[in-house]
Amino acid sequence: MLNIVLFGPPGAGKGTQSEKLIEKYQLIHLSTGDLLRSEIAQQTELGMKAKLLMDKGELVPDEVVIGMIRSKLDQNKSTNGFIFDGFPRTAAQAEALDKLLSENNTAISCMLALEVDNEELTKRLLLRGKDSGRADDQNEDIIRNRIKEYNNKTAPLKDYYTAQRKFHAINGIGSVEEIFGALCSEIASIHQVI
Ligand code: AP5
Ligand code: MG
Repeated sequence: MLNIVLFGPPGAGKGTQSEKLIEKYQLIHLSTGDLLRSEIAQQTELGMKAKLLMDKGELVPDEVVIGMIRSKLDQNKSTNGFIFDGFPRTAAQAEALDKLLSENNTAISCMLALEVDNEELTKRLLLRGKDSGRADDQNEDIIRNRIKEYNNKTAPLKDYYTAQRKFHAINGIGSVEEIFGALCSEIASIHQVI
């Protein structure tokens, strides 16, 4: 299986690139942000609780997102692989993911990290906020908080995957096609060694 963690700060292009990668490699896209927004749209109890945190740009509790990923893995036993988008975001989530995958006799193949500076991230998210309807794109304070949460809790996962020799950085600035090309070349070079 090809199991990719697509990593990067808010607005780095994880969702945009995931759409292209799942088509090319026939993978299943697991975005915890999308799963949570779908819970909100259905007004479930989980969704309503998560919304309070998401609207402020804070992470939802680990057990909530780990539970969502567990059930998606259980529902998709026969697939070419997964793209994890926006998950894991904490050390506890990364450890839980390794455990869940090993229970299914598989593992993370690589972490591909999209690198984009804060100024560009803020610009992209404010632009999207004009018509996305996402409460967390609406003002610079919330966007700043999302980036702060990322720097404090999520960015350290670089070390976790580096220790497993799975971390690969990709320049996330440029056209969508250029970045997709860079991701595919990286996957091709990793594939030769997995
Ligand atoms: P989530 O939905 O994961 O959002 P995020 O990571 O903050 O960021 P985005 O999804 O907005 O960005 P992206 O990297 O996918 O970029 P995109 O392709 O959309 O999480 C939302 C919230 O849910 C969190 O804050 C948290 O509360 C909660 N949550 C989710 N997962 C969690 C977890 N595991 N644990 C705890 N809490 C969790 O692109 C962004 C914009 O830029 C778009 O408009 C796009 O068109 C544009 N764009 C893309 N590529 C380019 C390019 N190359 N050049 C110019 N513009 C571009
Ligand atoms: Mg996204």
